[in-house]
Amino acid sequence: MEKSKVCPWWMGYLLLFPLRKIRHNPDQIAGPFLKPGMKVIDYGSAMGYFSLPMARMVGETGRVYCFDIQPRMFVNLLRRARKAGLEQRIEPRLITGSDRDFEGMDQLADFALLFAVAHEVPDQEALFARLYRMLKPGATLFFAEPPGHVKIREFLRSVSWAEKAGFRKSSAVDLRKLTVLFQKI
Ligand SMILES: C[S@@+](CC[C@H](N)C(=O)[O-])C[C@H]1O[C@@H](n2cnc3c(N)ncnc32)[C@H](O)[C@@H]1O
Repeated sequence: MEKSKVCPWWMGYLLLFPLRKIRHNPDQIAGPFLKPGMKVIDYGSAMGYFSLPMARMVGETGRVYCFDIQPRMFVNLLRRARKAGLEQRIEPRLITGSDRDFEGMDQLADFALLFAVAHEVPDQEALFARLYRMLKPGATLFFAEPPGHVKIREFLRSVSWAEKAGFRKSSAVDLRKLTVLFQKI
């Protein structure tokens, strides 16, 4: 039987480690793309390392749609959001495999973050097609994978899936950090 690639729920706590900010600063990663009032996606949000800062950036009139397959990630995401007074701006969306998981999301979002998630998803063709569908024309997708954990050729295969879905690169591919920006055309 194939071993599950999904990171265990308790890893969600490790991903919140404050020193992570030195390498993965949400203000630097998402900040340039976010404005008050925007609707944005944190796909594979876990416990919201990026979602909460993004909720601050989109302000009271904005919304962060957090997708994940593990309900336990959402327990702590929502607890943290409540504590920070950001609960109204965060909408958890559990992926169950039903079409209703994405109800109302077509061409809704101004930005999507896909950070350290794609390698855990078995059907990346469907993943990028889904993200493409949820974004507005002209919107940005920030795509990153964990270097070391994901090989360059695997990352480049993901990049091809994104392009097949219709995304166009809007930055150079960084093969050291395994990051690239895409735009929905
Ligand atoms: C390594 S964590 C990264 C979390 C977050 N993006 C971050 O950088 O802090 C990967 C997350 O993706 C979620 N995930 C895995 N497969 C998924 C899928 N098919 N759809 C949505 N989320 C998924 C996992 O449950 C986990 O929370």
